[in-house]
Amino acid sequence: MTTTEPAVSAVGDWTPEQLEEYGRLLLTRLREHFETLRSQPVTTDRPAKEIRELFDEPLPEQPQDFTEILDRTWDEVRPHLTLWNHPRFHAYFANSSSGPAILAEAATAALNVNVMLWDAAPAAAAVESTVLRWLCEMLAYPGDGDAVLVDGASLATLYALAAARERLGGFDVRRTGMAGGPTLRVYASDQTHSSLDKAAITLGIGLDHVVRIPTGREGALDPVELAARVRQDLRAGHRPLAVVANVGTTSTGGIDPVPAIAEICDRHALWLHVDAAYGGFWRLADRIRPHLPDLSLADSLVANPHKVLLCPMEASALLTRHRDALTNTFRLVPEYLTTRHEDGSVDFMNYSLQLGRQFRALKLWWLIKSFGVRGIAGRLDAAAGLAGRLRAAAGNTPHWQITNPRTPFPLVCLRYAPEGLSPQETDDLNRRIHHRVNAGRRSYVSHTVVDAGYVIRVSIGNIHTLAEDVDALWAELTAAAAEEGKSL
Ligand SMILES: Cc1ncc(COP(=O)(O)O)c(C=O)c1O
Repeated sequence: MTTTEPAVSAVGDWTPEQLEEYGRLLLTRLREHFETLRSQPVTTDRPAKEIRELFDEPLPEQPQDFTEILDRTWDEVRPHLTLWNHPRFHAYFANSSSGPAILAEAATAALNVNVMLWDAAPAAAAVESTVLRWLCEMLAYPGDGDAVLVDGASLATLYALAAARERLGGFDVRRTGMAGGPTLRVYASDQTHSSLDKAAITLGIGLDHVVRIPTGREGALDPVELAARVRQDLRAGHRPLAVVANVGTTSTGGIDPVPAIAEICDRHALWLHVDAAYGGFWRLADRIRPHLPDLSLADSLVANPHKVLLCPMEASALLTRHRDALTNTFRLVPEYLTTRHEDGSVDFMNYSLQLGRQFRALKLWWLIKSFGVRGIAGRLDAAAGLAGRLRAAAGNTPHWQITNPRTPFPLVCLRYAPEGLSPQETDDLNRRIHHRVNAGRRSYVSHTVVDAGYVIRVSIGNIHTLAEDVDALWAELTAAAAEEGKSL
């Protein structure tokens, strides 16, 4: 080092003491955040342009004090978020970031290991393997096949279909691509998540070859229709590849008849991928488990800890009971990634497209250990009970309909339908009720459109949600219905 070089402390990272000091500041903020969260707005009322303007700032040339950055985050970022970890957030699929997992995220960043190769992060790969085995146990899914944590269910489904295609045989997609290969067909209900379409686009299957089977009122795939469509495609010379079945559809929490679908898949050597991104881990709840099909029938399964398992984004489990199904699809090892192999080592880079991988398993390891599977099950059961409370309130109130009465999941689709309105007028009314509730910023819900029309979707799944939050939401819904009803 020459004397003209600055001292390391002048250009380097915070000192460990600073890290602790600032960490405490952050933890104090988080403590206040959680202590007051229930009384804070769930979302912002600022227009998008104003929020953009708040952060439309030049590239910082000079260092800023962390306390100022933290203040600004609290004063300007946090108030203009939609707070998913709020007890009154009921939109999309309400999820949770729990204490142990929050701290694990910080530890993960501090350790900053890359779980691509065994040698790159030995214990992290071992923890991931164990966590995946635990997740298989929770889902009653065979734990001796391939499994990997990925960022979300969309990519999990993409990877599952790639594995299905790899196993299909008859053409070498790795070498020759899709050119000259058969026309592959994938089947799913019209309620299946749009990630399937994205997977079909990406894999070169094509949207025209995703065969959407219409569903009835319960939002479940009709296996008779499925079998007919497969036979028709075989006659036309197509190559049926896979069926994607749902355990918990996005709109209404519908469940496809997995055993009947599995039989059809067996008959025609089709790969069965089950999208249990939402529904899978609800299996832990005593009230829900009896209503769920046997997930072990699936050739591959996706279930999202980040939707249900009290775990922050991003964590999704892709499981297949076929050993080597993922590694045969994704293993490709250039010289610079060649390492020694040792009995028991696992190279997670071979299980998906991702090379550099975060130590995602740590947050799951911490939270599963901290709560125990019984503790998690109790919390999920409590959420299911709260949904029952809302269903009872709506069921006992004139003009309110529950349009998905059969779902076992804590997802309640509500429609306010006073007599004398046309379906279009009822749709408009429900849209206005939905927007009025969200504009109040005390609770937050989303919507979907089903056979009955526009419905307000209430998902209960945040670890902090209590009966008082559900009662508050119900009061807001009925007040909004009364207000909007006045103008009819
Ligand atoms: C049933 C279902 N499958 C897949 C997805 C996609 O999940 P992700 O956001 O993890 O990619 C969703 C998202 O809500 C979903 O509801």
